[in-house]
Amino acid sequence: MSAPTPPADTRCSKRRVLTVENLCVDTANFRLLDGVTFSIDGDERVGLIGESGSGKSVTSLAIIGLLAENLSASGRVVLNDVDLMALREKQLAAHRGKDVAMVFQEPMTALNPSMKIGRQIAETMLIHDTQPSKKTAMREAVKLLEQVGLPDPEQSAEKYPHQLSGGQRQRVVIAIALANDPSLLICDEPTTALDVTVQAQVLDLIREEADLHDSALLFITHDLAVVAMMCHRVLVMYGGCVVEAGTVHEVFESPRHPYTAGLLASSDLDEVDEEGNLQAIPGSVPPAGRFPDGCVFRNRCPNATDECTVVPPWTTRDGQPVDAVSGNSGYACYHPIEMPR
Ligand SMILES: Nc1ncnc2c1ncn2[C@@H]1O[C@H](COP(=O)(O)OP(=O)(O)OP(=O)(O)O)[C@@H](O)[C@H]1O
Ligand SMILES: [Mg+2]
Repeated sequence: MSAPTPPADTRCSKRRVLTVENLCVDTANFRLLDGVTFSIDGDERVGLIGESGSGKSVTSLAIIGLLAENLSASGRVVLNDVDLMALREKQLAAHRGKDVAMVFQEPMTALNPSMKIGRQIAETMLIHDTQPSKKTAMREAVKLLEQVGLPDPEQSAEKYPHQLSGGQRQRVVIAIALANDPSLLICDEPTTALDVTVQAQVLDLIREEADLHDSALLFITHDLAVVAMMCHRVLVMYGGCVVEAGTVHEVFESPRHPYTAGLLASSDLDEVDEEGNLQAIPGSVPPAGRFPDGCVFRNRCPNATDECTVVPPWTTRDGQPVDAVSGNSGYACYHPIEMPR
């Protein structure tokens, strides 16, 4: 067995920005998220990956307190020492867009179609009192448009969203998200609605801007290559649980959870069967509320045994059981993939 890898949360780091502890989300009838636990430091970019329906967006919406009305959350979400789950909606709204900001998949849904984009950026600053006057806010808005690469920023500020391309609109959304230098930027599939050529530019922009504005990043995507390019650490999610976590290098080079190994194999163009099909994980993600008891992955897992009917404990990456879950490093599985020697 190789030398134990130090847990990611002992990295030399600036400050803890986000702590998520035992986050659970329920409908009236079943559980959607079960015990999600992780943290992010100020200098980190963390990827959240998993197949469609694994609970990535529900996690991000629970963090910023924007869950649908039929859902309820429990656990702890602490942003810069503030326990967000203990706040009322009005108090929470004061943090949203200021200390934590989000970029969603479809830029048009985040923009007001009837307001010029310069003003939309300025309003974000004025609402949170981070600029003293309309005039300074407008000046900052133009600067931000320049930073995110819009051509002729002063003229662009006078345009409406429909006068911009999809890529330009997403640049504006990024400018709005970063206008108040949030401690945490959450991006949920921010480039899937964009042309392939524009995607790479927008990803570069998010990475550069998060660094420039000193914002930690939680980056949600299906695309493992994007996580490898964007992130320091990665959380692998399935069935509303984080099943594996570690640095991008650890998880991608030596996955321990069979689900992670399946995800990696199904995205690896070298791993094709005789018919030339990508190796996929057998079966599909069950609908919410239909995951098996015990290990949520056991009905699709090649390694599953009777033991897996009991929830597997969180284990360090080198296989030592731990008392407390650290969603930052480790995995939850009785029959992990062997580490390479
Ligand atoms: N308001 C809701 N009520 C009931 N179930 C919901 C609700 N919102 C989400 N779900 C279910 O929760 C599960 C996780 O959804 P979520 O949107 O987090 O998945 P995801 O990992 O973001 O997937 P994708 O990659 O497709 O965006 C899905 O089965 C979804 O149908
Ligand atoms: Mg989603």
